[in-house]
This record gives sequence, C-alpha cells and structure tokens, in this order.
Amino acid sequence: MNQAAPITKATSDLGRHVLDGLGRTPKRLSSMYFYDDRGSELFQQIMALPEYYPTRTEFALLTTHRAAIGEALRPATGEPFFLLELGAGDGLKTKILLRYLLDSGARFTYVPVDISAAALEGLTASLRAELPGLQVEPVVADYTAALALMAARPGRKAVLFLGSNIGNFLPPDRLAFLRQLTGPLTADDRLLIGFDLQKNPRVIRAAYDDAAGVTAAFNLNLLARLNQELGADFDLDQWQHYTDYDPLSGAVRSFVVSARAQTVRFAALDLSVDFAAWEVIHTENSYKFTGPGIADLAAEAGLRVEHFFTDEQAYFADVVLAPLA
Ligand code: AVI
Repeated sequence: MNQAAPITKATSDLGRHVLDGLGRTPKRLSSMYFYDDRGSELFQQIMALPEYYPTRTEFALLTTHRAAIGEALRPATGEPFFLLELGAGDGLKTKILLRYLLDSGARFTYVPVDISAAALEGLTASLRAELPGLQVEPVVADYTAALALMAARPGRKAVLFLGSNIGNFLPPDRLAFLRQLTGPLTADDRLLIGFDLQKNPRVIRAAYDDAAGVTAAFNLNLLARLNQELGADFDLDQWQHYTDYDPLSGAVRSFVVSARAQTVRFAALDLSVDFAAWEVIHTENSYKFTGPGIADLAAEAGLRVEHFFTDEQAYFADVVLAPLA
C-alpha cells in the first residue's frame, strides 16, 4: 500500500475499515458494507433467484411448521411475551409466525430491531396495514444493545435471527456474537436461529454464482460504493466476481478479483492501493452448518437445542435454542 500522506481523513467507519482491510495480506473487506441502497436492492433480487434456495426454503419451512414453532416460542403459561427480531428486513418470513400467533390468541409485542430507522419505518407501516391487531415496538439500536434494553422488561423474550445471517460471521466472531446474545437472556427466554445446512456442494456453489449475474453485481457493488463514498476510482470492468464452496470448512468464500495489475486511488483517504494481476479482495463468508455442528456451537455459547425444524430436503434449519440453566 502506498500512502501519499499521513491518514487524517479516515473519519468514517467505512474509511477506517478500508484502511485496515486493504492494508492486510490477503486483502479483505467485510460483507457488512454490501448493504447500501443498491446493495439492498440487489439482495432482494438474489432472494428471488432460482439458484438461491435459502430464502424460499426457510419460507416454506416456516409455513409448514408455523404452529410448532409458534408454540415453542410462546410461554406455555399463556403470559404476555416479547417477540424480538434482529434484522427484520421486509418481514416477509416473520409475517407467517406473526399471523399464526395472532390467530391463536397469543398476547405478545413484536419488537423488530435494526440500526436503520428507515428500514424499521417501512416494516412498521406495512405491519400496521396488514396486521392491524399486532402490537409493534420497533427498536433502533444494535442487536446487543437492544437485547440488554429489553432484558429489563418483564416476560419471556423470544428472539428471531432468521435467514442464515449467522453464516456470515467467521467462526470466532459467530461464537462471540452468540455469547453476547445469550448474556442478557434468562432460562425462560428462547432464540430461533436460521442455519443454512451443508448439502450437495454444487447446489451451494450455484446459489452464489447465479447464471443471471445478480450475485456478481451484488459483490462488485461494494467497489461502486467505495467509488461513491470514498472517492475511489475502481474501474469495474477490471474486476470480476469469484466464489467457491469448501465442503471441508463449510464456507462459501466470495472475492472480487483484479483482472490486471492496477492502482486504485481513494481521494477521501488520500490513499493509493496497488493490486497485482489476479490478486483478490475477500469480501464474504457464508458458512453452511451440520446438525451436530449446531449443537456444539449452541453448547459453547451456553445454549441447548430445544427443537430442530428442517425441510424435506434438509436444506435449511430453523433451530429453537434455550439458555442452559
Ligand atoms: C445475508 N446473507 C445470509 C446472504 C448469504 O447467503 O450469505 C448474503 C448473500 N451473499 C451472496 N448471496 C447472498
């Protein structure tokens, strides 16, 4: 990395992240930064792709098992409870559970949690229109802060973390995250986590390298974001999307690949970064899990598997976890 001048302008999180990630060998950037407006739009398109099975599989799984999942999440005593959701998105999958719980007379408050107030406003408006009987209390905060805040309220907390977002953490970060989630929970609380399962490696690989090139556009959009927000000059024609699934580690790893030797300038950081021909930036991990691996992870985080719901093909699992007493 050539630094033209001491870095004094790296004030944003993204700027600091780029300085750190592109200063490493191998270079890396976090998939956390995929989700600007364009990235979120592309992710919506990914979820509808024929190759991207996780979203529709989890949707079908929740539809099939909604009653059993709803019963596992609500207190058997019939007392009021809080249904928290971390990163609710458009709530399409959650509405299946919300409808079941409302129809079966459960007394609960739905608490969608997100750091984006705009995302929560959209979701809350659509819920008010579609499920007028639902009590909604959106919380704009990061996940751990929200859980700590809710811990003070009386009643069970049932916490949803769907969509295999857990797969985007590296193993040590995943464990640390689960431990942080578990910290404020009591033995009566529950977690429902979506895990994408290990399966035919070709099926997994295709889900991250679709024929229409939407995932490629999603991955490369990270560079477009750096151009926009940090005044970088990535020439997107000189970068390629590359992804691979490693069945030994269970990880899909995605990269953007420099198609030639080139130097990229970041005006906002007063920084130039050299890339060799075919050098990669590692941009995403999407881990796939096994039943025993999930049970081990739960135990390490101070949780036990209470229910394991899966689809006919065993492609995906929604797992109800309870804190170890
Ligand atoms: C958000 N997350 C669970 C997705 C995944 O499958 O890892 C993001 C994604 N990346 C490429 N396609 C979808």
